[in-house]
Amino acid sequence: MFGVVGTRITQGRHLAKRFFASLSSDRPSTADDQWIRANLTSGEEELWGRMDPADQRHSVQVARDVERALPGADRAVIAAAALHDVGKLVCGYGTFARVFATLFWGAIPAPFRSRFAFGWADRQGPGRMGVFRRLGEYRIHPELGRDLLVAAGSDPFTANWAAEHHTPTDRWTVDPQLGHVLKECDDD
Ligand SMILES: [Fe+2]
Repeated sequence: MFGVVGTRITQGRHLAKRFFASLSSDRPSTADDQWIRANLTSGEEELWGRMDPADQRHSVQVARDVERALPGADRAVIAAAALHDVGKLVCGYGTFARVFATLFWGAIPAPFRSRFAFGWADRQGPGRMGVFRRLGEYRIHPELGRDLLVAAGSDPFTANWAAEHHTPTDRWTVDPQLGHVLKECDDD
């Protein structure tokens, strides 16, 4: 029991640290930004430039950790680390809206989450109600990220990792060895 409480406290501290870090509007260092861009296609670079500073900083941390774990990793793998959360561009949420959305989806029973999210994110359907549409878009950011990356001409690994970075490992279509490294480097 004390183990569970200890884990919760550690998780709580981690989330609080991430929350306060996300309030900073500092972009990554020039060296980090240039290194990421050197691993992106021009279409990916355009998406990278639109990501918010906190997402860029998190992406640099993940990509640097992946590079350490897999020296000489393929460009598409570094791009996957850098752009796994690019789908969050679509909802346009800042830090506080994301906290609200996380609490909101946590309160929705698990079996209904996907059905509601995909339905609300559909701009032809109930998604015309903007508040619910954006909640849906936040929830399905993996799939929206894949769509953005496919449109940007990304390598299939980069696009598929964006789609699957929150998917249970037994449903991955990506190379599981690479997927496990990426997942371990992403403490999101
Ligand atoms: Fe994500």
